[in-house]
Amino acid sequence: MSSVTGPSRIHELSADELAIYRQLDPEQLPKHIAIIMDGNGRWAGQRRLQRFFGHQQGAESVQYVVETASRIDLPWLTLYAFSLENNLRRPETEVSFLMRLLRTYLVNNVKRMNDNNVRIAYIGRIKDLPQEVQETMQWAAEQTAHNTGTTLTLALNYGARVEIVDAVRDALRKIAAEQSGPLPLEELLSKFTDQHISQALYTAHMPDPDLVIRTSGEMRISNFLLWQIAYSEIYVTDRFWPDFRGKHFLDAIREYQCRERRFGGLGNAPKVKPVEPEQVLVR
Ligand code: FPP
Repeated sequence: MSSVTGPSRIHELSADELAIYRQLDPEQLPKHIAIIMDGNGRWAGQRRLQRFFGHQQGAESVQYVVETASRIDLPWLTLYAFSLENNLRRPETEVSFLMRLLRTYLVNNVKRMNDNNVRIAYIGRIKDLPQEVQETMQWAAEQTAHNTGTTLTLALNYGARVEIVDAVRDALRKIAAEQSGPLPLEELLSKFTDQHISQALYTAHMPDPDLVIRTSGEMRISNFLLWQIAYSEIYVTDRFWPDFRGKHFLDAIREYQCRERRFGGLGNAPKVKPVEPEQVLVR
């Protein structure tokens, strides 16, 4: 079988991955998976290592998962690599290590991204990152811009609340600018819909995530894609991110395929004897 982006690469999966992939329905694969990569510090702590080593090992996991995603032809993979809160609340030494790690990761992996037909993109307040980091990021995006397989989006200096506030401001400005004269506030608000917000988010060009994966067992969203995940399935694993591999990624997709997505509707409830609503006593 071949995919929209070229011949199938399923045969490149490892034997473990292939065993899980064969249990999946290829027609029902998610289009967009977003991951909260958590547990680098605890992974290191368990080994009596400093946190830096957890992040370093975490960067290895990123590449494993990206390549598995590209082999199954996942169109969109979004990774929460660095939050606005990480930037503000972590010691300077850890933040600058993460910045250095990101640059090294991009420089070392651009060739592999091209070999795997992966395009690199970013979301977040990129302009507030150090200049040399921005330059490497732009270089990696340019080097991979021609690829047509998986789009790997790294969320960097990202916070969903700030993203939504910025999107609302932009959307209102745009509506106001489309009018010939000044618009009374109530009229402006009446024209404003959720579509305006969706179209003004960093992610306007992507489908919303079908599946959000969080590693290390925490049951939190941590200010990640709050608007976009309204109807996403959430999968939490106790495994720490540095131990997360392609087969665990496929495990998450297998679990996703067992879920019934209802988007607020009723789904496939079992058939019951029909009764007129008026016949039901309201207590
Ligand atoms: C959470 O672990 C992880 C991060 C704050 C950073 C994520 C970074 C990486 C996975 C490595 C580099 C990424 C790229 C794209 C090269 P934590 O430090 O919060 O772990 P803890 O909760 O156990 O302390």
